[in-house]
Amino acid sequence: MKETGSFKNKVFCPSGDGRFGKIRKHFERDAFVFDRVFFKIMPCYHEMMKALVDAIPFSRGRRIRVVDLGCGTGNLSREIISAYPHTRLTCVDMAENMIKMAESKLAKEKNVDFFLGDIRDFAFPEKCHAIVSSMVLHHIEKKDKLEFYRKLNRSLSKGGGFYVIDIFLASDSHLQSMYMDNWKAFMKGNGFSSRRINYTLARHRSEDRPVVLEDELSIMRKAGFVKTEVILKRYNFALYRGCVKD
Ligand SMILES: C[S@@+](CC[C@H](N)C(=O)[O-])C[C@H]1O[C@@H](n2cnc3c(N)ncnc32)[C@H](O)[C@@H]1O
Repeated sequence: MKETGSFKNKVFCPSGDGRFGKIRKHFERDAFVFDRVFFKIMPCYHEMMKALVDAIPFSRGRRIRVVDLGCGTGNLSREIISAYPHTRLTCVDMAENMIKMAESKLAKEKNVDFFLGDIRDFAFPEKCHAIVSSMVLHHIEKKDKLEFYRKLNRSLSKGGGFYVIDIFLASDSHLQSMYMDNWKAFMKGNGFSSRRINYTLARHRSEDRPVVLEDELSIMRKAGFVKTEVILKRYNFALYRGCVKD
């Protein structure tokens, strides 16, 4: 892994032809159109983000500490700040063009900092009240999740939680093909051509490593999270959370 770009807070960014290098390159390119198209690719994008924010249990006036893993262009971060105006928020992403978009979207906010780098290498400077992530963790291999989630668990303070939106596999082939048909119909309904839909699905197959939702929850529990719960689900997309033990 090699450092890239000129961003002031850098960790390390995957480069080259490995899967994460490819993912990063794609998002460097996507950054300029992401906000115009992503809600046409992902069903319930805004609804799930709003529900995620509502699921965070602290009072709105409180100064909470939140980390957004894979913040992209900053849409979830923005929702968090509008609900929790006193949040101290850290945004982490490995694609410089994506995080720059987030930076300009949140330019007026005082309590936000940005880290360019791989979320797996992010060293939490202090414990936080919430770790959030939207449509990112499916990039991580199942075998690497347990250690990573243990680290997240240790980085949360009492009462803290891990709130995630992501894409999943069904637990059998019948449901999986139903989910895929629904996903295609959603994109088609948003005006995507067959070519565009096939491109999106081919990219999903080559870059993403979704797991079965029940397996994901079980990894979270193994990592120490309690009260794991699916808050919202639409076919293969879901919002869920895990809390730290009191
Ligand atoms: C589909 S976008 C989602 C962005 C944002 N969370 C949202 O919901 O709008 C995925 C983002 O995750 C970032 N990403 C994927 N894997 C990552 C990793 N290992 N470390 C840091 N960022 C990662 C990509 O660069 C991209 O910006």
